[in-house]
Amino acid sequence: MTGEVRWLSRGLDHVPDGVEWLSPAEVDRLGRMRYAKRSSEFLVSRATAKQTIAMAVGLPTDDPHVLRRIEVRHRPTGAPAPFVDGEPAGLAMSSTDRADRAVCVVTPTAGVAVGCDLELVEERTPGFVASYLTPAEQQVVAAAPTPALTANLLWSAKESALKVLETGLRRDTRSVEVRFGDEVVSGWSALQVHPAEGGVFPGWWRQSGQFLLSVVASAAIAPPVAFEEPDGLGTAAPTHRWMEAPINPARTPGST
Ligand SMILES: CC(C)(COP(=O)(O)OP(=O)(O)OC[C@H]1O[C@@H](n2cnc3c(N)ncnc32)[C@H](O)[C@@H]1OP(=O)(O)O)[C@@H](O)C(=O)NCCC(=O)NCCS
Repeated sequence: MTGEVRWLSRGLDHVPDGVEWLSPAEVDRLGRMRYAKRSSEFLVSRATAKQTIAMAVGLPTDDPHVLRRIEVRHRPTGAPAPFVDGEPAGLAMSSTDRADRAVCVVTPTAGVAVGCDLELVEERTPGFVASYLTPAEQQVVAAAPTPALTANLLWSAKESALKVLETGLRRDTRSVEVRFGDEVVSGWSALQVHPAEGGVFPGWWRQSGQFLLSVVASAAIAPPVAFEEPDGLGTAAPTHRWMEAPINPARTPGST
């Protein structure tokens, strides 16, 4: 069976006003964040995830009272788990954000775990390539017509795989090796990630404007389908608005 994956991308401009759309626990968490980098990442990630989950389960995406009923909780590993009205939403999910833009992917396919990662096409140093990539991946970067794109893509697919494994960067990035496939479907190109202990995680990647997005799964998945077309990522400008006002404006006075 091939898993079905849907995805949504949203930016800081899509974050609803106020905090009515956040659950009480999320409002509390937001209030304890000192810096705007953390709070803006939290808000864009939560808004995107809640709207993705709402679309996946057939709820409206623009009603703050509905959105507050949707929560992303975390397993002890740090992996996200979607809940609606305090009950598991019957979906596996993964979230990622970069430069004021977020992506959330979900799958209703039972037994399939997903991981996604959003990156910019940016320069990577020789030290980055030597430290984080396997020898075979380093050769792929050296032979690539666009080494920066390839290095970021390999990194993105690794992060996606490490989210499927639920270890994140606790695990050596060289213990999962990325190989690119030839198949291209609906703007997605095939890839596979091979963990050192055996097995294979299939996935897909795409370049959308200045962003790279990878999606990796624990089993075969069809190319991810956007909940919205155009998906918005291709025309999104990377920004870092927190730099203009570094303190979280929603911080609870007196919190440490
Ligand atoms: C998973 C990880 C690589 C992602 O880091 P990143 O590239 O900076 O951030 P991204 O925006 O791509 O992804 C963030 C999302 O990863 C998800 N995530 C975090 N830990 C995860 C795990 N163990 N497994 C799967 N997903 C995980 C979360 O959903 C998080 O978003 P949220 O907090 O808004 O729900 C990183 O958080 C990590 O290594 N975590 C595990 C180790 C750890 O806890 N380190 C503490 C800080 S060093």
